[in-house]
Amino acid sequence: MRYLIANWKMNLPKGDLDEYLEKLGEGESWHSTRIGIAPPFPFVPGLAADLEGSRVLVGGQNCSDADSGAYTGEVSARMLRAVGASFVIIGHSERRSLYGEGDELVAAKVKVALAANLRPLLCVGEDLQTREKGGAVALLERQLDSALGSLALPEELWIAYEPVWAIGTGRNATPAMAAEAHAAIRRKTIELSGDRTRPVILYGGSVKKENAAALAAQSEIEGFLVGGASLDADGFLAIGEALELARPGA
Ligand code: PGA
Repeated sequence: MRYLIANWKMNLPKGDLDEYLEKLGEGESWHSTRIGIAPPFPFVPGLAADLEGSRVLVGGQNCSDADSGAYTGEVSARMLRAVGASFVIIGHSERRSLYGEGDELVAAKVKVALAANLRPLLCVGEDLQTREKGGAVALLERQLDSALGSLALPEELWIAYEPVWAIGTGRNATPAMAAEAHAAIRRKTIELSGDRTRPVILYGGSVKKENAAALAAQSEIEGFLVGGASLDADGFLAIGEALELARPGA
């Protein structure tokens, strides 16, 4: 299965939300691609209710590392699960850079998400300087090590490779660059899990309908995490079609 995940960030799609959801209904006929939406917190319960019975998944963009308590402004993984979320994005680079989330916190969040039966979508990715110095793979391995190294990992784990320099910049990783990074992430995750986990690795960073087909043609790329381009239903669907039609390796 491939996954097309929308990260709305602190935005809503332009225009009418019902129309957006109706359009996404076209994705119901896809055989190998499944849509997920991560809206801002207040919209999780409503969307989950609207989409109940459909194949579209609803998720959170973040969760607390704690289960409950005096943590003003936080939302727990269990609460997200209770209102219908089935996954949660963890360690997005905007959380890491704008809110100072370090590796330890990211690891704790992955742990509480797993305990709450919420699929974590762990984001990893290098900054431009690290890539230019040739250190991208080493950094990805370090991020995976700190986030996953101490955990009992599930059979299947979602990971998004999101090079920081490609997020919201209009610059995407080339298909070859992404495939190389994905292969490294796959190797490292399998190693950390003692061969028990199958990673499902999505690419994120300026994915749009114009570059989706070339990226989707890489067998290493098992889906997309889409920010800006997910706010427009037509563009988002076109990206999903590229995934659905991709014949990796052909
Ligand atoms: P972008 O964002 O598609 O707007 O580059 C991707 C992300 O941050 O998940």
